[in-house]
Amino acid sequence: MEDTIMEKKDLDWGNIGFTYMPTDKRYVADYKDGEWGEGRLTADPTVVINECAGILQYCQEIFEGLKAYTTEDGSIVTFRPDLNAERMMDSAVRLEMPPFPKERFLEAVDAVVRENAAWVPPYGSGATLYLRPYMFATGPVIGVKPSMEYQFRLFATPVGPYFKGGAKPLTICVSDFDRAAPNGTGHVKAGLNYAMSLHASVTAHAAGYDENMFLDPGTRTFVEETGGANFLFVTGDGEVVTPKSDSILPSITRRSLVYVAEHYLGLKVTQRPVKLAELKDFAECGLCGTAAVISPVGKVVDHGREICFPSGMEEMGPVTKKLYDTLTGIQMGEIEAPEGWIRKIV
Ligand code: PLP
Ligand code: COI
Repeated sequence: MEDTIMEKKDLDWGNIGFTYMPTDKRYVADYKDGEWGEGRLTADPTVVINECAGILQYCQEIFEGLKAYTTEDGSIVTFRPDLNAERMMDSAVRLEMPPFPKERFLEAVDAVVRENAAWVPPYGSGATLYLRPYMFATGPVIGVKPSMEYQFRLFATPVGPYFKGGAKPLTICVSDFDRAAPNGTGHVKAGLNYAMSLHASVTAHAAGYDENMFLDPGTRTFVEETGGANFLFVTGDGEVVTPKSDSILPSITRRSLVYVAEHYLGLKVTQRPVKLAELKDFAECGLCGTAAVISPVGKVVDHGREICFPSGMEEMGPVTKKLYDTLTGIQMGEIEAPEGWIRKIV
């Protein structure tokens, strides 16, 4: 690769959606007899497993999501993949699965990105290479118990914006369904959390909303998150507020934005429980996550009651925009990153 100019795939990079497109290589490693076997790269996107595999019967699966970016100087990098590796280890422990070692996770990410370098969208295209590490129970189980065998896989797919319309503010509704249970699995990235959010999201979409706002499952009075992103609010005097809860996913994007807000933009940030009843007092609202990046929310509808943020339905609020520009600037190599945030691959 060093002295040849790598030829990019011929895709309309500016117009791809958030959909799956198989790329050249993916990584696979199997866990058997109490240990992780050697990993390998394969061109085969199919998975063949036993009919009684733990994933098929009792949904024993966890996953991660991160992206590879082409930076301004033409390098290919990932953003804080160590935190995805650590979160996946935490998810594994909660689901009684053998954690996939952090160093191996990072090597797998590097290998898949390197092998699919031609699929990493060019700098400035608005698209990125989405990476999906996941692990599932392959061993047969019929009594309810953890499997003895697992597979870790990691594939890549080029993606555009998660929400159609890119940076246009979203309208979301307060859901009648809960995504998490008190003392449940809301804080880990397990497929089961997403399976049970599907009915809520189909219902919300059918009613014309872009997404759900889930409330805390204990009292249904505090804001939690959406099916795939954390919330971020801005007060009238420019303070950033993010909901704190034990049943939301500890978003790496949100944790990064908190740092960016404080250290790059000099903003005050508070992480605390946020009441549904106080939403009307905020000036801006956004959804943050790897897929969502920062997607502005213009309106929240709570059973017919509309909460319209002063930032409106046309564009991102000014503080949200500053956060967005700074975070994406760091990811694309335009703004110097904090130590250890960027892992250069090519
Ligand atoms: N919340 C949920 C439920 C998610 O699925 C995601 C996506 O990973 C996030 C939040 C955002 O997390 P991150 O910023 O680490 O992608
Ligand atoms: C991500 O942002 O990586 C996620 O996993 C969210 C998912 C719902 C697409």
